[in-house]
Amino acid sequence: MTSVTVIEASGTEHVIDVPVGETVMRAALNAGIDGIVGECGGGLACATCHCYVDEDWADRLEEAEPAEREMLECTASELRPTSRLSCQIIVDDGLDGLIVHLPETQY
Ligand code: FES
Repeated sequence: MTSVTVIEASGTEHVIDVPVGETVMRAALNAGIDGIVGECGGGLACATCHCYVDEDWADRLEEAEPAEREMLECTASELRPTSRLSCQIIVDDGLDGLIVHLPETQY
């Protein structure tokens, strides 16, 4: 299990245990966290799983694939250099302690 902190736009923090191999999107949904929708179920077709990876972690994630970068153009909230689709962040032991911030809205 790895620990991931998800911080809503309101500032509410959730520390969740995420099994290795699980996506941040799925783990957040399972934990009942508002602010991630994940409408397409992780199929890179909705951008409603948008998050901002904490600055301290941004360089420690694998680069976004071209398909993710393309879908990031469709986010409802401001796109930032640290923007990622949480359905594409697959948790492994190296991400223990990961922090992601959620945008104001996913629509
Ligand atoms: S859940 Fe649809 S793109 Fe991530």
